[in-house]
Amino acid sequence: MATVYREVDVPSQQGKTALVTGANTGIGFHTARVLAARGARVLLGCRDESRAAEAIAAIQSKLPDADLAWLPLDLASLSSIEKAAGQVQQTESHLDLLINNAGVMVPPKTLTEDGFELQFGVNHLGHFALTGHLLPMLKARADARIVNISSLAHRGAAIDFDDIHAERKYSRMKRYQMSKFANMLFTFGLQQRLEASGSGALAVAAHPGGSNTELGRHIGLMRFLFLPLEWIMNSAAEGALPSLRAATDPDAKGGDYYGPTGMGEFARSAGIAKVDSAARDLEAINRLWGISEALTNVSI
Ligand SMILES: NC(=O)c1ccc[n+]([C@@H]2O[C@H](COP(=O)([O-])OP(=O)(O)OC[C@H]3O[C@@H](n4cnc5c(N)ncnc54)[C@H](OP(=O)(O)O)[C@@H]3O)[C@@H](O)[C@H]2O)c1
Repeated sequence: MATVYREVDVPSQQGKTALVTGANTGIGFHTARVLAARGARVLLGCRDESRAAEAIAAIQSKLPDADLAWLPLDLASLSSIEKAAGQVQQTESHLDLLINNAGVMVPPKTLTEDGFELQFGVNHLGHFALTGHLLPMLKARADARIVNISSLAHRGAAIDFDDIHAERKYSRMKRYQMSKFANMLFTFGLQQRLEASGSGALAVAAHPGGSNTELGRHIGLMRFLFLPLEWIMNSAAEGALPSLRAATDPDAKGGDYYGPTGMGEFARSAGIAKVDSAARDLEAINRLWGISEALTNVSI
């Protein structure tokens, strides 16, 4: 494998089916594009039909044979998630890759359809439920992978178990960090459970460093503070490289975490990234697991 990881390093995905959440833009779009270019059938799990159609048209304008389909999916709704998983089970003969990529960052306080704080609800609980529904299908495949997209922001974060729905206090950034920390706890908890069940499926995580996408849509005037960073940031396509490596590197092991290899893991290429040791805390992993099962009514 070349030292600098590039799109051309993604091996053939012929015969595989991948579901990428939040694939209409940003990192998810480029993850879907490259997987399709390598021969995978790619389901774009998106909430907006026209945005999904635009993404499919953009990919197929360069790759006319790309095998792509829109999967209606709103991660802020448990019923939408269950319906989407049901559609995958009905229409697809198999599922090899689940890329839990969709995310929302620092919105004003909002609740999901089921009353969860939006960032924890979409970024963690929604993906937990989706994974739970699709796990039997994934476990039926020899090389299945579940990839959770976390962030540098998971470092130094914690789950606010005493105020899980942010009823007492809402700090936009802390709740984003908490959701990305949850992505890490979920990855390690899932890998343990996959191993214990004798499944060869892998749970892995990745983060895109700092990538120029639409993620900052809620940061308002703070956007100007980040402008000087834009020239060192990853493009959205570069930001997809850690996700792609986590999903397809034949040498990846369960529980691996990929990120950019440049200074501070902020940008460039893709390799093994640094995990905050708090994310490996078994008590936190199991506590979050129990709460996630109870809130989503999905048992894994
Ligand atoms: N960009 C970075 O620097 C950075 C850094 C660290 C981690 N990340 C992580 O990378 C992942 C991708 O983010 P991005 O930077 O590509 O952001 P983005 O450009 O804003 O894309 C986010 C995607 O998530 C989708 N999404 C949001 N809420 C959803 C919902 N309720 N149901 C279904 N889909 C929903 C969005 O759909 P709509 O277009 O319909 O809103 C969009 O497709 C996120 O998990 C983010 O936390 C990004």
